[in-house]
Amino acid sequence: MAAIIDGKVISLAIKDELKKKVEELKEKGIQIHLAVIQVGENPASAVYVRNKKKGCEYIGIGSLSYELSEETKQEELLALIQELNEREDVNGILVQLPLPSHIDEDTVIQAIDPKKDVDGFHPQSVGALCISQPGFVSCTPAGVIQLLKRSGIEIEGKECVVLGRSNIVGKPMSILLLRENATVTIAHSRTKNLKEVTGRADILIAAVGRPKMITRDYVKEGAVVIDVGINRDENNKLCGDVDFDDVAPICSAITPVPGGVGPMTVAMLLYNCVESIGLRA
Ligand code: GUN
Repeated sequence: MAAIIDGKVISLAIKDELKKKVEELKEKGIQIHLAVIQVGENPASAVYVRNKKKGCEYIGIGSLSYELSEETKQEELLALIQELNEREDVNGILVQLPLPSHIDEDTVIQAIDPKKDVDGFHPQSVGALCISQPGFVSCTPAGVIQLLKRSGIEIEGKECVVLGRSNIVGKPMSILLLRENATVTIAHSRTKNLKEVTGRADILIAAVGRPKMITRDYVKEGAVVIDVGINRDENNKLCGDVDFDDVAPICSAITPVPGGVGPMTVAMLLYNCVESIGLRA
């Protein structure tokens, strides 16, 4: 049976480290503030936003909350971002995605000052990541790297297969693994012989958004399996992209859903908020 990688325990360790750093910064007269913007009432987004604000409170960061109506115009949102860009006391700006369809996400992301882009979604942050320059790294993939490292799983030289090519997870995930000297393959919906490709992985990262798609016939015996998916199954129960009960008996380590990657996203967002002090200087 596989070792269960506990994202709750690892994220708590990170948050406790950050809490100490925030206290030290406060002693130097530096207080960090994160602005969190949600447009509309997507119930999943509301849960994520609440967890992010709770995380801020836990480590001692102030959070400014903007809950805007579904009808908010793009120009109004851009004006708010501009105001927050200019505020000295705001260190990070987070616009929860998805946005209502009348608002262009790319335009909104690009309006955020890259020095406050704690989500790591701005093209400047993504470019910096690609060429190993200082900048914010997208929270979920950064969290996966921490889960692996803090579980004592070596990445260097390993065959890593990332299943999914989104801008938020798949692409930055592959670059972070490359930075750790892994051999990286990105597989996706058009990949031929998918089981053969994923079956080569020493470390398999599933980020496709299809409930329980990854069964044991996609996985090499003894592989490490990281499940980034957050889906609902046929009984409306939270589940990942991996069929946990089927895969766990044949792999060496696996993340559960919930309690795996999810809590790490919040921990790495808080890490980026603390990091913003250094990037500003
Ligand atoms: N929607 C789903 N995941 C994320 C995230 O990490 N950041 C933001 N801003 N929106 C999201």
